[in-house]
Amino acid sequence: MKIEITKNGPYKVIGRIPLSEKKLVTVDGKTEVKHVKDYETKDTTYLCRCGKSKNAPYCDGTHKTFFDGTITAPRGNDIDTKTSDPEIAVMQNHIKGVSGPLSVSGYVRISDEAGLFEPKTKVSLCRCGASKNKPFCDGTHQTINYQDKH
Ligand code: FES
Repeated sequence: MKIEITKNGPYKVIGRIPLSEKKLVTVDGKTEVKHVKDYETKDTTYLCRCGKSKNAPYCDGTHKTFFDGTITAPRGNDIDTKTSDPEIAVMQNHIKGVSGPLSVSGYVRISDEAGLFEPKTKVSLCRCGASKNKPFCDGTHQTINYQDKH
């Protein structure tokens, strides 16, 4: 199972990694993550990373009209230590009232045309298209008030 970052385009998710939506909420003063729903996946599923799809979390081709998805994050050389089952969660931050990144956990290889990205147990991939640390989330979705339901 892997995620390929396409040039100026979506995340190409290969291998039916379970995909769900989760929301951050406050319960009794504490931040909790709640499952909202599951999304359908295919053998290959394209997930939007430009922030403008009308069919989020899926890509609808809108990126072709404007998106510069140049990778800006430094590359690491960590060896994969992931052991849990892979999962992708489409995050919705109900506390801040914004849509958030893709939270990727478990054994998932993430790469682009230049090679593999530093594998970690959990990473957040930018979904709003505005991170200065692509492909990873840098919190900019909050600054730009990213809403994936256009
Ligand atoms: S990456 Fe294709 S519509 Fe956003």
